[in-house]
Amino acid sequence: RSVVVAIDGPSGSGKSSVSRAVARRLGLAYLDTGAMYRALTWWCLEQGIDLDDEPAVTAAASDFPLVMGTDPTDPHVRVGDADVTAEIRTTRISSAVSAVARHLPTRAILIALQRDWVDRCSVQGIVAEGRDITSVVAPDADVRLLLTASEQARLARRARELHGDSGESALAATRDEVLRRDRDDSAVTSFLEPTDGVRLLDTSDLDFDSTVDAVVRAVEA
Ligand code: CDP
Repeated sequence: RSVVVAIDGPSGSGKSSVSRAVARRLGLAYLDTGAMYRALTWWCLEQGIDLDDEPAVTAAASDFPLVMGTDPTDPHVRVGDADVTAEIRTTRISSAVSAVARHLPTRAILIALQRDWVDRCSVQGIVAEGRDITSVVAPDADVRLLLTASEQARLARRARELHGDSGESALAATRDEVLRRDRDDSAVTSFLEPTDGVRLLDTSDLDFDSTVDAVVRAVEA
């Protein structure tokens, strides 16, 4: 059995890009659980489902034709025949995803899929990342990390990702969405404080490569 690495963190903590790079470097599979919530949000909107309608969203989750690779070099996401890899990162989806993720019966379905994924990849080893991986999806993981960063650092990263710069207007456009999403998400997942035994890694003053190095060291320790 190889290593299972669980990584949680808020938006802009760098967890997705860092987790993918770590998986690539160590030859592990990669599971982006946020992409699953995003893809389900896309699928509900596509069908005209009211995102506050918990039974309808949960029914959509139980009949969800998600196709997602666990190869960190090819992180495509498809729903049925539609390639939604780029679409699920748009503001339309980012601003709607928390409404889907707050329904507990919906989460139960995605969490079961995620646990299956982790089990199936446990021979190769896997890096799974999201908001409740260290606490709910894979509490028995060999390595459990919570990536944090100051609000300022997180907003600057997200602004650069979405707008290509971190000037005042890019920051302003990013601030509302990120802070509101963190607030909404923290009602259902506890990704702001590490649970017992979870190691905290503050990335505010680390660049990307140093963060990847720090996580690789934690895995190899
Ligand atoms: O990349 P970023 O951190 O902005 O978001 P993400 O990891 O793609 O997650 C998108 C959304 O999915 C979050 O805002 C949560 O609402 C939800 N999510 C969750 O509830 N539980 C997870 N394990 C992962 C994501």
